[in-house]
Amino acid sequence: MEIVILPDSAEVGRVAASVIADVVARKPDGALGLATGSSPLAIYDELARRAAAGELDFSRMRGFALDEYVGLDYAHPESYHAVIDRTVTKPLGMDPELVSVPDGLAQDVPAACAAYEAAIDAAGGIDVQILGIGANGHIGFNEPTSSLASRTRIKTLTPKTRADNARFFDSPEAVPTHCVTQGLGTILRARRLVLVAQGEAKAEAIAAAVEGPVSASCPASVLQLHEHATVVIDEGAASRLHNADYYRYTWANKPEWQRY
Ligand code: F6R
Repeated sequence: MEIVILPDSAEVGRVAASVIADVVARKPDGALGLATGSSPLAIYDELARRAAAGELDFSRMRGFALDEYVGLDYAHPESYHAVIDRTVTKPLGMDPELVSVPDGLAQDVPAACAAYEAAIDAAGGIDVQILGIGANGHIGFNEPTSSLASRTRIKTLTPKTRADNARFFDSPEAVPTHCVTQGLGTILRARRLVLVAQGEAKAEAIAAAVEGPVSASCPASVLQLHEHATVVIDEGAASRLHNADYYRYTWANKPEWQRY
């Protein structure tokens, strides 16, 4: 795993955006894996800036969101259908027809999950997956003890995740109890992974993911099994890493031809 420690959130967004931009430039009809939440917003801001400047064209890129709440109307501003449309599809100039979000309103949830997996496969797989991380180590909404081989399916959100996400809703009770999320096995199939985290609240999860054992107790530790995963974090999120000096040294000495 490559660990990149940067001074602030804007710089995290800039470097992570450069990884995405590199993929889009090489494969303008490829597929992006999209995360919601606060962490990737700096990436989307930077990518929107580059798209507006004519440096990048997202009009033929496909997008697949990681997750969606179950039972939340898509018109609700915090449904991930709405969030992806507002923070990604429109600002980046993606074609809404090419952007998919898991179906949280399906009558037949297992069938909808299987269809989502099939749609990713039909698109040729995900070229680069953007990830945030929960304070409990979840990626997507794969809560601790999620199978490392899991595919898109329904999950029960932990009370901690519901409390963390209550800031987006009118009350803590309004946060749905269930979600549909790409599995850890689904995420591992993406050709490239870029995980971003900012702030000390994520420090413990980052340390467990990067330097702890591979374990379903910290779902993000599954990144250790991926052949091309990059973790881009600020100093706060890096504050519990034992080998932070080595990661800084590696980044400072990275050959120019190897970026990004
Ligand atoms: C959301 C998702 C989650 C978030 C995580 C961190 O699509 O995949 O794993 O990335 O909960 O959320 P923030 O960035 O809001 O702290």
